Amino acid sequence: MPKLLHLVASPRADSESSAGARAFLDRFRQARPGWDVDEMNLWRENLPEFDGEILQAKYARMGGRAFTDGQREAFAAAERMAVRLDLAERVVISTPMWNFGIPYKLKHWLDIINQPGLTFRFDPSRGYLPLLKDRPTLVILASGGDFTTGISRGRTDLATPYLREALRFMGLRDLHFVAIGPTSGPATHTAAARERAHRRLAEMAARF
Ligand SMILES: Cc1cc2nc3c(=O)[nH]c(=O)nc-3n(C[C@H](O)[C@H](O)[C@H](O)COP(=O)(O)O)c2cc1C
Repeated sequence: MPKLLHLVASPRADSESSAGARAFLDRFRQARPGWDVDEMNLWRENLPEFDGEILQAKYARMGGRAFTDGQREAFAAAERMAVRLDLAERVVISTPMWNFGIPYKLKHWLDIINQPGLTFRFDPSRGYLPLLKDRPTLVILASGGDFTTGISRGRTDLATPYLREALRFMGLRDLHFVAIGPTSGPATHTAAARERAHRRLAEMAARF
């Protein structure tokens, strides 16, 4: 059964990014009834701290050294998470903007899976090469401000370029971003932003 992986990066029950993902997924399920939607809530997932053995495993890989038993065991958690991503033909990431960037749980997941030999490799003559196959990937980004132009009241959106680069590095290049914002401020503005985004998401879902 083909699979869509949905990464949930907001911890809020009334999250705008999660509501956007629901608008998308409701339509996606109608369009592709045979698909399995694998929801990974990054706030409920047991993400290992990126220190100790798993950190040393990354350095061992980068230095071309064999793993110790402890490193191999710790690295297996990263392998399981990378495989969960790689098994998905479609990826949806719904995330808030937090302090110009992304919530630390989403960064944590990226730190765990972005490993040499797993999601990328280094070739001395060709540089860094991605190891994941490309697939349609949607990022739904909710922000208090309106970042349509990339800047909101003097603040810069660092979440979009960061995610674009981090995902591209692993091989995910067929990237689509839908912003939901402003999510704070006058109700007429927030409702219009939500409606605009949900309409676009529902349209995209039918052909994603
Ligand atoms: C810790 C934190 C940091 C935030 N930083 C920003 C920010 O830098 N820019 C912005 O426009 N909104 C910021 N916000 C507002 C959120 O982006 C906004 O509430 C958004 O709707 C959250 O997504 P969610 O509704 O999916 O949880 C921040 C909110 C929190 C809790």
